[in-house]
Amino acid sequence: MDNSWFKELVVYQIWCRSFKDGNGDGIGDLYGVLEELEYIKSLGVNCIWFSPLYPSPNCDYGYDVADYKDIHPDFGNLDVFKEVLDKAHSLGMKVIMDLVVNHTSTECEWFKESKKSVDNPYHDYYIWRKGKNGNPPNNWLSNFEGCAWEYVPECDEYYLHTFAIGQPDLNMDNPKVREEVKSILRFWLDMGVDGFREDVITYISKKEGLPNGFPLMPIARGMEHYNKGPHFMEYMQEFREVINEYDCFVVGESPMTGPADAIRFASGDDRILDMLISFDHMSADCLFIDMVHLPFSLKRMKKAFSKWQKYLYGKAWNALYIENHDHPRIISRYGNEKYRTESGKMLATMCFMQSGTPFIYQGQEIGMVNTKLHSYSEFKDVMTFNGRRLLRKIGVPDFLSIKLMNRTSRENSRTPVQWNSSNYAGFSTVEPWFGVNKNYKKINVAAEEKDKNSILNYYRKLFKVRQSNDIFIYGEYKEFYKQSKKIYCYERRLGDKRALIVCSFVSRPVEFKAPLGYKLKRSKIVLHTYKDKPKAKKNTITLRPYEAVVYLYD
Ligand code: GLC
Ligand code: CA
Repeated sequence: MDNSWFKELVVYQIWCRSFKDGNGDGIGDLYGVLEELEYIKSLGVNCIWFSPLYPSPNCDYGYDVADYKDIHPDFGNLDVFKEVLDKAHSLGMKVIMDLVVNHTSTECEWFKESKKSVDNPYHDYYIWRKGKNGNPPNNWLSNFEGCAWEYVPECDEYYLHTFAIGQPDLNMDNPKVREEVKSILRFWLDMGVDGFREDVITYISKKEGLPNGFPLMPIARGMEHYNKGPHFMEYMQEFREVINEYDCFVVGESPMTGPADAIRFASGDDRILDMLISFDHMSADCLFIDMVHLPFSLKRMKKAFSKWQKYLYGKAWNALYIENHDHPRIISRYGNEKYRTESGKMLATMCFMQSGTPFIYQGQEIGMVNTKLHSYSEFKDVMTFNGRRLLRKIGVPDFLSIKLMNRTSRENSRTPVQWNSSNYAGFSTVEPWFGVNKNYKKINVAAEEKDKNSILNYYRKLFKVRQSNDIFIYGEYKEFYKQSKKIYCYERRLGDKRALIVCSFVSRPVEFKAPLGYKLKRSKIVLHTYKDKPKAKKNTITLRPYEAVVYLYD
């Protein structure tokens, strides 16, 4: 099956709980999605990725799945989902689901059986071990909640959870578990969905004997023994056989991977993934994870993008993204809230003129920014509470750690989408499950619709330009002025066509001289982020704060 159509998609991610409440209970749902499918389509989007919609006790907001073949009652039911699917298809949009199979919820029937006794037929669906001298089986720490092992007296054993306590890891070495995964894939593909985003998929195979991890790691200790583990490729090939029976695609979330992994996993006809969600470019203001905050470094960001662009070209395909439900808002990170409109448009240009499939996240298209919470009682996410716990341990008081959370936590991307300036930002008619950002009167879809120079209308233009010029989809990438701490400039090249993308990352005017071989005046400006186009003099332009411009030579 030739599924290379995934290269021409523009994907919109919905984190349903905060998208739109259609039935007035304060929680976003599929009724709300149904109302807004035309809006999503109007952005130039042709694929929707749903973060998990399955029944879940929400210890990790859906990423703890209790039933893989149903819809959470908060979101609707299977009938409403089918309605959404059909309508999306009739509007020319594909739909992909989140596949979370590294772990389930403790509320999943398999786990409930598994923990009854060591003889239960489901016991071996999970990773159980005896303790060692009254201690857990090894020194692993979870990503979310301290020790990676939880003791269950009924079995006199511990189960492994690399994430929250409510997210026990599946034992993928058990062929029955792999059969379950295939059956989940078939269930949704038979219904008509067009693929999957596979959650922390590179974690599914754990090293035999579960050896101790590197002792200094304060979280996710032991990860070196389960990221890209021994049977990862083999199990993925097994799943891929099912995928290959359908006209669909899969994108795998792959923490701590580099371009060489991408080529291993996502190139050739026997590839196990069509694209990877990588993290290098998301660490230009932190050390590996957002909470270990550092000042933003443009050079680090450029280096990361260029590395992936260069290595993958002609061999594997990139997934392009700068926002999703796991990171703070990008304007607040790599842009500038004081220049929200300017930096919002520039960041879009910077990322989505590159080679790969664009993924945008709800609210990104209207330039939503980070929120501000004042007390831990307003926070919702297990990861935030883990951060607080770790910081308390080293003596950081709550009033200080809250400041860090406001800047770095993924709560920032989970506030309700701001639809208009009415109560609760038009997200719901009652008080939403999570606080609406106070700036909603100014930043909302309705206001952005009215303003022809808004970020929203810029996204529409950008995707139109991208989708109607092959060079932006298939062109080769090359970076200029790598050493600049102010400007990001790259070219795309396809046959004898060329394009030059120029982005300013500073709030002062900055001079930009075209690289050798480029005559600015001979080109066509196909995208510009200020009302008027920049004017070239002696092949030089002065970029205004956070300005971006795209020159096309065809
Ligand atoms: C992925 C998801 C994240 C979730 C974690 C555990 O990283 O994107 O939201 O918390 O996996 O499932
Ligand atoms: Ca609702």
